[in-house]
Amino acid sequence: MARKRQLKLGAQLHGAGASWADWRHPQAYSDASVNFGFYKQQAIQAEAGKFDFLFVADSVFITERSSPHYLNRFEPLTILSALAAVTEKIGLVGTLTVSYSEPFTVARQFASLDHISHGRAGWNIVTSWLEGSASNYSKAEHLSHDVRYRLAGEHLEVVKGLWDSWEDDAFVRNKETGEFFDKSKLHTLNHKGEFFSVKGPLNISRSKQGQPVIFQAGTSDDGRNFAARHADIIYAGHESFEETQLYYADLKKRAALYGRDPNDVFVIPNIRPIIGRTEEEAERNYQAYANLVTIENALTALGRPFNDHDFTVYPLDEPFPDLGDLGDKSNQGSSNRIKRTAKENNLTLRQTALLFSTPRSGFIGTPLQVADSIRKWFEEGAADGFIVGTGTTAALKDFVELVVPILQERGLFRTEYDHDTLRGNLGLQVPVNRNSKQSVYK
Ligand SMILES: Cc1cc2nc3c(=O)[nH]c(=O)nc-3n(C[C@H](O)[C@H](O)[C@H](O)COP(=O)(O)O)c2cc1C
Repeated sequence: MARKRQLKLGAQLHGAGASWADWRHPQAYSDASVNFGFYKQQAIQAEAGKFDFLFVADSVFITERSSPHYLNRFEPLTILSALAAVTEKIGLVGTLTVSYSEPFTVARQFASLDHISHGRAGWNIVTSWLEGSASNYSKAEHLSHDVRYRLAGEHLEVVKGLWDSWEDDAFVRNKETGEFFDKSKLHTLNHKGEFFSVKGPLNISRSKQGQPVIFQAGTSDDGRNFAARHADIIYAGHESFEETQLYYADLKKRAALYGRDPNDVFVIPNIRPIIGRTEEEAERNYQAYANLVTIENALTALGRPFNDHDFTVYPLDEPFPDLGDLGDKSNQGSSNRIKRTAKENNLTLRQTALLFSTPRSGFIGTPLQVADSIRKWFEEGAADGFIVGTGTTAALKDFVELVVPILQERGLFRTEYDHDTLRGNLGLQVPVNRNSKQSVYK
């Protein structure tokens, strides 16, 4: 019997918070981004809530204008490897840029995390939009948007090829005969392409989930095609219900055009629920975050998808400035959305900055209201699940203790893990090794 469609839930581990001001919240740990105890506590809490995975974002360039979390934080694979040792079932998804990494190293690092965690690793592929990243990697310039996506396709092809270097039963380890491995089950990639030349084989085998799960967030046309073609999970920015429905339908359609079953590609927006036991308490909790955000913070945050553009040079209470194609080379999706929203609603710069820094989403309210919004998005074609970002440990605890039980009662979310791999829990097949006829793992 086909299993009832279930929500996929991820917990974003974001240290001192997503905004410039979250760290000042009375319940926040201001050093959370480099506090292993905080990460461990969040991971254990999310696993108690039966979440599918933990998610760690990343970037490789900072300036003094970067947000507090970005200024001083853990490298994703390092923190996830440590968390693998204190968790058992929850997936471990880390962000790593293809524009500033070598496929051999990436394949090796994720395969290692996959073994350490017994099949719980996921890779969130990003191309990096901050142009300054080039200056940290001995490169004269940041690649253009379209070239970055072309490179991403080849990078991933090489990484996946390397992951299949060893067939699943290649390591015989027969102490009596002295045969350590079966030579016929070791495969050399010999890749030569536009960007990479990689011989292989990789010096680590596959884990029991076959290959790490692929995550991607694509908003531009190139980005959407990349996500629809390659990602198991597409991480979407939080937009309105109607906008997200359109995005969801578009990504599923693109996935089908690439010959994929759209039901095997999950679109998962990120949400930041703010919960109160009553509506008034939820509103107070929202205000407690919103009141921390200064206009200076909001302008800095607004500049980020425009490659850290300085918005303080424009008058605050006049119409949002005409920025031409600024942002197209960095984060096309988010920068275009900001420009479009400001224009369509005749907003001033101040209104635009505050709107994006203190958004009032449909996920602010009582546990029942938040669960209702989740159900609506899930059942009405806007989401297959959510990545839940919370500003403080107390907020994640509230979500796990107050909202998750409602979702479970309604049969929308698991009460126990069915598997111990990330793929298994997501209901994804183990990919058959391209070099062998069938996987030894189910
Ligand atoms: C929810 C979400 C999370 C993202 N996380 C990261 C991240 O951790 N690191 C990063 O470099 N880019 C991140 N991105 C940016 C995307 O990888 C991509 O550059 C962005 O969505 C712009 O897409 P586009 O280049 O196709 O317009 C994220 C995007 C979204 C929507």
